[in-house]
Amino acid sequence: MKKIITYGTFDLFHIGHLNLLKRSKSLGDYLIVGLSSDEFNLAEKNKQTVICYEDRKQILEALRCVDLVIPENNWEQKISDVQEFKIDTFVMGHDWMGKFDFLSPYCEVCYLPRTEAISSSEIKRHIHTTPGTMYGRI
Ligand code: CTP
Repeated sequence: MKKIITYGTFDLFHIGHLNLLKRSKSLGDYLIVGLSSDEFNLAEKNKQTVICYEDRKQILEALRCVDLVIPENNWEQKISDVQEFKIDTFVMGHDWMGKFDFLSPYCEVCYLPRTEAISSSEIKRHIHTTPGTMYGRI
């Protein structure tokens, strides 16, 4: 069985997240998501999430393409996660290109194209600047 892992915050779950997760799963048989905790987001990624960890986790667990959600609590855990879960392929969107190449002695490292014109930050900005209007990519 080919095992894939990816990491992220997945706040205000959107189509870019879904595309990334479906593409990740299509690279193997079992997809693990390392979901950034609220504390890690705030302390290390300078992100205040709108949706709390438990709810973000439940949303991911409900997806057919996701097999397991584990917490991401620090930057250093990736090598031990890859070893513990016997990961074959590590995947991130290409905004992270090159950042995780240090994992290549342990597994395949793959950067997938991002979905254009959508992000959690963009949704938050849109709600603040133009409340009452629809946010969409078209
Ligand atoms: N992602 C993607 N396409 C998008 C947005 C995100 O493929 N349009 C991918 C990222 O590259 C990452 C994963 O989804 O591998 C989780 O990204 P995350 O940072 O949680 O989502 P963003 O919407 O980019 O959030 P933010 O705007 O807060 O950075």
